[in-house]
Amino acid sequence: MSSSPVTLRSEGAIGVLHIDNPPVNALSPATVQGLIDGLAAFEAKPELQALVLHCEGRTFVAGGDIAAFEDPAFSAAPFNAFLGRLEACSRPVIAAIHGTALGGGLELAMACHWRVATPTARVGLPEVKLGLIPGSLGTQRLPRLAGAELALDLMLSGRMLNATQAKAASIVDEISDLPPLQAALARAQALVNEKWAPRRTSALTVPPASLPDGLLDKALAQAKAKPQYPAHEAIVECVRAAATLPFAQGEQVEAQWFARVLRSGTSKAMRHLFFAERAAEKIPAMPRNLALRPVQKVGVLGAGTMGGGIAMCFINAGFETVLVEASAEALERGMATIRKNYDSTVSKGKLSAEERDRRLARLTPSLNDTDLGSCDIVIEAVFENMALKQQIAARLGQVCKPGAIIATNTSTLDVDVIAQASGRAADVLGTHFFSPANVMRLLEVVRGAQTAPDVLATVMGLAKRIGKVAAVSGVCYGFIGNRMAEVYMREAEFLLLEGATPGQIDQAIESLGLAMGPCRMLDMAGIDVGAKTVIEYEKAGGLPPDATYRVVVRKLFELGQFGQKTGTGYYRYEGRTPVANPETQATCAALAQQHGIARRGDITDAEIIERLIYSMVNEGARILEEGIAYRGSDIDVVWTAGYGFPDFQGGPMFLADERGLAHVVQRLDHYAATRGNPYGYWTVSPLLRRLASEGGRLSQYAG
Ligand code: NAI
Repeated sequence: MSSSPVTLRSEGAIGVLHIDNPPVNALSPATVQGLIDGLAAFEAKPELQALVLHCEGRTFVAGGDIAAFEDPAFSAAPFNAFLGRLEACSRPVIAAIHGTALGGGLELAMACHWRVATPTARVGLPEVKLGLIPGSLGTQRLPRLAGAELALDLMLSGRMLNATQAKAASIVDEISDLPPLQAALARAQALVNEKWAPRRTSALTVPPASLPDGLLDKALAQAKAKPQYPAHEAIVECVRAAATLPFAQGEQVEAQWFARVLRSGTSKAMRHLFFAERAAEKIPAMPRNLALRPVQKVGVLGAGTMGGGIAMCFINAGFETVLVEASAEALERGMATIRKNYDSTVSKGKLSAEERDRRLARLTPSLNDTDLGSCDIVIEAVFENMALKQQIAARLGQVCKPGAIIATNTSTLDVDVIAQASGRAADVLGTHFFSPANVMRLLEVVRGAQTAPDVLATVMGLAKRIGKVAAVSGVCYGFIGNRMAEVYMREAEFLLLEGATPGQIDQAIESLGLAMGPCRMLDMAGIDVGAKTVIEYEKAGGLPPDATYRVVVRKLFELGQFGQKTGTGYYRYEGRTPVANPETQATCAALAQQHGIARRGDITDAEIIERLIYSMVNEGARILEEGIAYRGSDIDVVWTAGYGFPDFQGGPMFLADERGLAHVVQRLDHYAATRGNPYGYWTVSPLLRRLASEGGRLSQYAG
């Protein structure tokens, strides 16, 4: 039998409840049981005069055990009862906080009578990020310590406070430079010596000054405006309970709301994504203890839209970075854009001028590609042109030092062909950043046929160091995200030809929670950009032999309707506001007539959603079948972190699972039957059909 992660020790006359549950001392069921047993042991030793809670390793308890929430029998009651008993102790109880006290960890600390923190400690209640609320009296104790207004802010945002802020907010009592255990023991002894009467958080009242008139009503109105996130309303109501009801009744209010949000589809989806993002970091079948390649210095080739943003990612994260361009004008233009970006962040008060200068000092602009020779990784972000990329890869193969990684930011070209040109394909892979690269969270890491395992693993680790969420894709046209987006755009255009308006399509898609439907999105990204991609893909022989394939975007391109930038595209723009564009509707009607497509007046929102989203899900299943993505959950990560798919839907694969794969298959079959299927658009992926018949889930699938 394994020993408990919690032990009771004594240091002189002080008891120490010692928690050791690596890596972050999360509150697993065994840890909770260990705490319960440890407290009982302390209660049985009246000779101990005080109790210190201390954690081993790099942090105090950094959260609840999220996996435990998936158990239908999960109950917070045992831990909550423990907290009540801990707080009721007649001898002083002191929390020794280092690292991060988050979620259940901060709830544990708030049930103690005194909190000592190291100067680098941070605290927070981030449950809202999982669509949850604190369920172990955090909603009741935090407002009593920090006041209603700050408690609301912290719980609704999930943000952390540093030790100084936490002290100012009375969440911690003391900051000490001593090692946390030593600091807490010293405080415990001092409290014993002065016969200090335990101060119980639950006995405090929420300071009235922290509850300005209308605060809760305003917060409630804002929460209700976001019904997809029921945890927001729950947090406001729990804070109201903390401010107006006795602690025991507030406890019941919190328990009811917690049970409700725990069961909500939103939290289920957000918990799925939490695990999905962590799973996406893992590369299957990697040799154990594989040594990573050291990366300290980074090179970026091309200072355009993407290269500039990519360079910012690295200098923000502390990397020395060399930015190389072909001409002095392009280099100066790129550097000016980078400076402008930082200046604007500084003027908004989000970055200090000193920090901006420190970051810019890490960036070396250069016109000489031999300066890339000292870099550990070089990312190429030059024009999307195969001949150019091959030529550059060959040059980088020569210039880069042995062992350096060569990455291409191509969005559509074959990474294996580029890798071959380098003469050292094992060192090459794709890093597909999203625009703006310094803002967007997603990085698709493209594994070439010959990419060395340590190269792939190093870049996945590097993605984390620059704060990206990374997912691995195999080589195919569009990788995971754009390949699925292509199917989605295809159906949007067919619906336009059949008589739906851009407004109708966008509205139906936006009703799912996507920030922007396909027409508004393409108008913003530029119809010229979209059309050129289709034209290039056609030249490469990638398109089906379908004369109606994406004819709308090509026609608008031909007509010079590039979207927002020309004031007209799918929509007409009054300033930045899109309004219906009768001209485009006429264009679609004419195209339909030309191609013999019947116009219909009976297109419903349900049809729009099914045709755009289910066909994309089907493409996702093909991506899994082909081994392009390792897991269904990786696809959900790509769509939520890179394409604005709403987190409360959990991603397209999760959405399909929740709607039922059998239903999805039935609808795909329906469209095959009613629309015909000459190009295989509606052919259901065998994997999808099998999972549907077995009751499996795409979002849980791992090849
Ligand atoms: P861009 O046209 O803004 O920038 C390309 C830059 O490369 C230019 O500044 C050009 O002077 C420079 N360049 C060309 N030849 C060079 C050479 N021999 N040596 C050094 N620099 C050279 O293009 P953008 O949009 O930044 O795209 C770059 C790459 O990123 C392309 O492969 C593109 O497909 C990909 N990409 C673009 C996205 C976007 O949203 N713009 C998104 C994801 C990937």
